[in-house]
Amino acid sequence: MKTSFSGIILVFLIQLGFVLSYKEYLFKTCSSAGFCHRNREFARNVKEASHFVPQYAIDPKSVEVDPELYVIKGQISKHLAQLDKSVQLPFQLTLLDKNNVRFQIFEDRSTAEPKNALVNTARYNETAKWSFKSDEVTIEKVQDEKVIDDENHLSFRFGKDGKYRAELNYSPVKLVIYAGDEVQLVMNDHNFLNYEHFRTENENSKHLSPYETDFDMFSESFKDARHDKIPMGPESVSSDFTFKGFKHVYGIPEHADSFNLKDTTGSDLPYRLFNIDLAEYVPNSRMPMYGSIPFLLASKPGVSVGLFWINSADTFIDIDKKHEEDTSTHWMSENGVLDVVLSIGDRPEDINESYGSLTGYVQLPPLFSLGYHQCRWNYNDEKDVLNINSLFDEHQIPYDVIWLDVEYADSRKYFTWQPDKFPDPEGMLKELDVTGRNLVVIIDPHIKTGFVLGDTIREKGIAMKDSENNSFVGQCWPGESVWLDSMNPGSQEFWDKQHALSDENTFMGRFSTNLYMWNDMSEPSIFDGIETTSPRSNLHYGNWEHRSVHNVFGLTFHEATYKALIKRLQSTERQRPFILTRSFYAGSQRTAAMWTGDNTAKWEYLKASIPMVLTLGVSGMPFAGADVGGFFGDPSKELLTRWYQTGIWYPFFRAHATMDTKRREPWVPGGSYTSILRDTIRLRYALLPMWYTSFFESSQTGVPVLKPTFYDNLNDIESYDIEDQFYLGNSGILVKPVTDEGASSTEIYLPDEQIYYDFTGGRITNRSYQLGEPGFVTKDVSLADIPMLLKGGSIVAAKNRYRRSSRLMANDPYTLTVALDKDGHASGRLYVDDGSSFNYESGEYLDVNFTADKTSIASTSDSNNAFANSLGHIKVEKIQILGRRDVSDIKAECDGETWNLNFKTEGANTIITNPMLPVNKNWTVHLQSDGNKEPAEEEQRPEGVLSSGLLVSVGVILASSAAALKYFSVL
Ligand code: NOJ
Repeated sequence: MKTSFSGIILVFLIQLGFVLSYKEYLFKTCSSAGFCHRNREFARNVKEASHFVPQYAIDPKSVEVDPELYVIKGQISKHLAQLDKSVQLPFQLTLLDKNNVRFQIFEDRSTAEPKNALVNTARYNETAKWSFKSDEVTIEKVQDEKVIDDENHLSFRFGKDGKYRAELNYSPVKLVIYAGDEVQLVMNDHNFLNYEHFRTENENSKHLSPYETDFDMFSESFKDARHDKIPMGPESVSSDFTFKGFKHVYGIPEHADSFNLKDTTGSDLPYRLFNIDLAEYVPNSRMPMYGSIPFLLASKPGVSVGLFWINSADTFIDIDKKHEEDTSTHWMSENGVLDVVLSIGDRPEDINESYGSLTGYVQLPPLFSLGYHQCRWNYNDEKDVLNINSLFDEHQIPYDVIWLDVEYADSRKYFTWQPDKFPDPEGMLKELDVTGRNLVVIIDPHIKTGFVLGDTIREKGIAMKDSENNSFVGQCWPGESVWLDSMNPGSQEFWDKQHALSDENTFMGRFSTNLYMWNDMSEPSIFDGIETTSPRSNLHYGNWEHRSVHNVFGLTFHEATYKALIKRLQSTERQRPFILTRSFYAGSQRTAAMWTGDNTAKWEYLKASIPMVLTLGVSGMPFAGADVGGFFGDPSKELLTRWYQTGIWYPFFRAHATMDTKRREPWVPGGSYTSILRDTIRLRYALLPMWYTSFFESSQTGVPVLKPTFYDNLNDIESYDIEDQFYLGNSGILVKPVTDEGASSTEIYLPDEQIYYDFTGGRITNRSYQLGEPGFVTKDVSLADIPMLLKGGSIVAAKNRYRRSSRLMANDPYTLTVALDKDGHASGRLYVDDGSSFNYESGEYLDVNFTADKTSIASTSDSNNAFANSLGHIKVEKIQILGRRDVSDIKAECDGETWNLNFKTEGANTIITNPMLPVNKNWTVHLQSDGNKEPAEEEQRPEGVLSSGLLVSVGVILASSAAALKYFSVL
């Protein structure tokens, strides 16, 4: 491999520990990426053509529907005007489970002669194999008596009662998705469909249409990549898709950008999906980052649609919002087949479910991994690790996982320990285990050359290869390294062996069931590589060029680790693996958590982390977080505090920092800062039951764990742009983290007219908010405050006792908080299992439904299994009923017995003290109000709430939008 000059400089700076901000010139933009440049140019020429002549048409005679109405096949003819002949591109249209319409366009290249005879000449068509949860996709029967109507198009109905329709027009080729009679999504609306068929360089000019340019078709002009021979010539695939009547589109992570995606027209940087290691990314940018999910969600009242572009090559996506009502998008990939799934439903959750039905839902994480993770580069030795471990206890701060970065390994040779610093790793793991703590160590895909494992990878032929089929060698943390080709099935056995439990004193040891993995640098990051990654001409198993598989490589690596851990843990009680990956692709959610990489200790990065995590959530990858405190630089005490107060809401909650930063564990800032951090981390632990329940729901249906505000009122268009607040799943907890320096107040957006009870920091107060229409309310905040509201209609279960780790909370009692809605109803859910095994898959769990109205609170569950039945000793120790002071008598009824409960009124709320109701039994708490009568409407609201009219108390609660503040209360 040729080493580029800029690559050498980069390695040099990294080795010297310089903090870099990314250098734009190292990375391609649209104009310097051949395929993007050509497709944008093509689109521009098509748009400007006074008389556009379509090049692609379906031959009606070629169209076949199988007799069972399952698969529609045919040929698209691409007309080459200069040669007066056509290239045939076979297509397939199928309806998959859950309203997913899949359209694939192939090309037969079996006779193509590439410049490098080693290269597999087929178009890469295995991205779906990696990305989908199973090889067997359920193909549904399409509806309609006559699918092929006439010579111009075919169409079929699908969805409940044939509510939706797909129509494939033959010339020009267009795929249109309807809801009823209304067009929702059109593929190739603007005729940007472009499929660069195989041709040789000599005959190329005759193959071009008048709309095309031949920029970088057979050679690369991007500085560092000039040696790339582009053996198959131009092979890009692209099409436009118009979302009719949709102004809000989300997804396509990973970018440090807004939640609602931006218009990219006129910029040289459309959203780019190309997994790379940006040395230090900047917010508000469409630069590619470490992972890619080519999935986009568009929502409007009544209809949501999804687009999943199944391609793992370098991809750019242009977004054009300049049309009155519509959003147009243009998807361009360097190679592969054109494979796209369009889905439709009433609500965004339907699309999350449809997408997840293909790629899988998030794994239900082991409970410990939802606790707090303490990381830095590096905890230096065993003494350091165990000292940090006991300092948490000294400061009474819970945590679950301590992490070791690359320096634990001898000369950064993974699967070894630095012998003088970690003489007894098993002893260290055992000591952590005593208090339920775990260790995560980093294992990257690069393995040092000259080290026995690096040599074995080479000898076994399971390394990624260069274009001449030699094991590829490049630079990464250990110096010269080879890369495990995790796409090679032969790699798994080797990888399993490195992760296996063994009787010998191996890396994993005999007792290390509390040891889990961090797969970093898996884009793959290669310090001396072009754009900091692998040359595109490198080869993977099957002789596929790296060019074709780049974005899915990281997924194949963490999946190999997952399979290895499954084998290692299967004989233990703790069977669910935990893996953190930096690189990811659609489907990664099944086996790994991710984090957003190397951020900086600055306010703008804290702010950016929220839309980033929301984006990942709606894209099926909810187990996401950002480095708390910022990876580069030293945060001020205020920033660190606000970061923890935000970080407890990241589904993956980990503090991390690079090597030249100062120590900043929660006790370091001291005094009141440490007390705030303690309370903050404890709040995360108190709400673990709600986190776990939300993850369970996400693992079953694909709903995001952090629910965007707009999901709660699709009719309120304003809420579609809210990106700095969210709900914790369906718990009703609405959070607006403070991300501004020196903030003394914050504005929270209420997306509907529901009552929202003040729940600052998880504590009940006497306040509530209710607007006559969606809008903002202003709330004063001190440094200690985490702005939280509890939506009327919710019941939240929490565990409020301090324990050292999540495992030690297993038998703790629950506190229920009941927040009645404006009609006097509430409900909630609590899911519990053993937190570590797969027994829940065979029904070993407790699933409780709580309901409440003005006269009762009830707990019902039909979980009848050994696990659920074993929880009788776990009680509900407290019930807080918000906004009710009218209760005069409370009785409990359970197992045929009825008894009186003690309660008290605290401000606007009623507290049932010590009801000791078993969490696994059905019970009802009967509430009688004063004088045995239904409370008058006014009394049902929290104290101070007015029954009508508008009361404004500036500085305490202020309606800051045009929306009328209907009711509010202040005590
Ligand atoms: C890059 C990762 O993003 C960072 O979190 C880690 O500390 C370093 N690699 C060293 O392993």
